[in-house]
Amino acid sequence: MKGSVLLKPILLLVGVYLVLKFVLPLFTAPLPASLIFLYLALTAAGIMIFETLSGQSTEAFFGPIFAFLSGKGQTGPMKAARLAVLILFPLLVGWQTYISTAPSDQPPAENRTIHPAPPGEFVGLSNPVPNTPENVMAGKGLFAAFCSPCHGKFDGKGPAAKGFNPPPADFVDSGTIAQLQESYVFWRIKKGGVGLPVEGMPWKSAMPRWEVELKDDQIWKIIMGEYDGAHQKPRTWE
Ligand code: HEC
Repeated sequence: MKGSVLLKPILLLVGVYLVLKFVLPLFTAPLPASLIFLYLALTAAGIMIFETLSGQSTEAFFGPIFAFLSGKGQTGPMKAARLAVLILFPLLVGWQTYISTAPSDQPPAENRTIHPAPPGEFVGLSNPVPNTPENVMAGKGLFAAFCSPCHGKFDGKGPAAKGFNPPPADFVDSGTIAQLQESYVFWRIKKGGVGLPVEGMPWKSAMPRWEVELKDDQIWKIIMGEYDGAHQKPRTWE
């Protein structure tokens, strides 16, 4: 009899939780945990109101709880259960508080657009520097001087690379310059990380902007050296 008074509310709470957590997502998007918590709190409040409608029902509801917590006349397993509750409950609250306030070492979830759209004035530019062996060599020389500390031998593994997140682009990988048109690469070199639009998280990129140090034709030469050194071809629409 004692048990049955508490059994119904507990079953109700568990039932509501299971429905919200597992049944509902079959039909719509899953609910956020905070919303499930809110619904459970409302359910609990409803149960409290129902159980305390009359003095009799209040007594029937809280009687067993008080009897259990006061520990009067308890023996054996009941005594142990009470002790366990009295110890575990504060620990649980403490742990929960710790978890929710302690700083975490996980990086915040972010979704960085790696190749955001370039500004209009850079779209469709073509490389004005003739693709001669001399120009490619000159580009590779400039690359070695200015870019290799981070981008290494075109593979993004320069001596300074480890310090940066996002890491310096690996041009040998098919996911970087091989996907891009020369005009796009020109924009990225000229304007660097600070030139990225908001969705590119400019404040996270260590890529310098080279428009001050390098003249345009030097940048175009570097681009040719870069593609040649990485054994990639710029993307074209033909
Ligand atoms: C201080 C380190 C550093 C130096 C020096 C540096 N870069 Fe970068 N670069 C980065 C980082 C980090 C990224 C990746 C983040 C980003 O896209 O902005 C990057 C990205 C790029 C990209 C974009 C690739 C893509 O897939 O979008 C190009 C192109 C590039 N660098 C070219 C150069 C060239 C050319 C030079 C030399 C003139 C150079 N970088 C020098 C750090 C550097």
